[in-house]
Amino acid sequence: MTTVAVVGTGVIGASWTRLFLANGLDVVATDPAPGAEERLRSALEDPDRLRFVADPGEAASVADFVQENGPEREDVKHALFAVLDEAARPDVVLASSSSGLLPSAIARGCPRHPERVVVGHPFNPPHLIPLVEVVPGRDTAPGVVDRAVAFYTSIGKRPIRLAREVPGHVANRLQAALWQEAYSLVERGIATVADIDTAIANGPGLRWAVLGPFVNQHLSGGAGGLAHVLAHLGPPTEEWWRDLGRVHLTPELADTLVAGVDAELAATDDRSLAAARDAVLHQLLAAKAAQPDLP
Ligand SMILES: NC(=O)c1ccc[n+]([C@@H]2O[C@H](COP(=O)([O-])OP(=O)(O)OC[C@H]3O[C@@H](n4cnc5c(N)ncnc54)[C@H](O)[C@@H]3O)[C@@H](O)[C@H]2O)c1
Repeated sequence: MTTVAVVGTGVIGASWTRLFLANGLDVVATDPAPGAEERLRSALEDPDRLRFVADPGEAASVADFVQENGPEREDVKHALFAVLDEAARPDVVLASSSSGLLPSAIARGCPRHPERVVVGHPFNPPHLIPLVEVVPGRDTAPGVVDRAVAFYTSIGKRPIRLAREVPGHVANRLQAALWQEAYSLVERGIATVADIDTAIANGPGLRWAVLGPFVNQHLSGGAGGLAHVLAHLGPPTEEWWRDLGRVHLTPELADTLVAGVDAELAATDDRSLAAARDAVLHQLLAAKAAQPDLP
């Protein structure tokens, strides 16, 4: 594997490009937006091994792996995958970064080789966050999932493989479940936006960054582990589930949430905040890598 085609170089495509180049791969990138090449080059530390071409077919034709990052619209992905499928060697995996579209729907744009289409969903920013969700569609060949997982692993990612496709994959569904209850608590006037952010970022979020929800729960059961927690706290948890909210994103609720974030961030600016988040993420990832006992 030496050359990756990056199709679409917005937020996610640019970040994938940084990661691929940092791993010694050559990148052929494409994006139809005016000024896209200059924007991408200015975001890179080593733009020399980047080639930018106008035609996505040309990018796919020279690639050993294709990572697509165009707009999250099924019609756009269809048209794009038709071009990629036509141009890429039949053995080349076509992976879409799509946050929630089903790979079977994306592969409908590929009459020639739908079996080489997968979703390879990163978390923003892909050059920092290790997770990639590899999702097969109805027609995806098992070997294609294996190859995508092997490729992502070879560049330091932590891929998980889903048994089958589902809207939003796994991690975004888990986030959506949390957002639903967070929005509901604000809507019911039980906590402010800032209080909920404080609760997660200074409470369970700290543990979730180290261990997943199941192992964290297991460790809170003492010697009895998860079995004890489920027996002891399972029944009250079922009570809480019955009280959880189901929100609709009305314009009024959206305004309340946005006003809440504005109030929370009144004394800072987004750029400094993102830089601080990324600095802490770097340290956290290094600290985790130094702990051999972490799964
Ligand atoms: N932003 C996120 O947090 C995030 C996280 C994971 C996955 N994703 C997914 O990644 C993909 C890209 O999202 P983004 O946030 O980078 O969006 P973005 O708007 O920043 O970038 C999309 C890019 O696609 C380009 N584009 C438009 N038509 C194209 C075409 N025909 N061929 C190639 N490129 C084309 C646009 O010019 C733009 O640069 C989406 O599928 C999205 O669901 C986004």
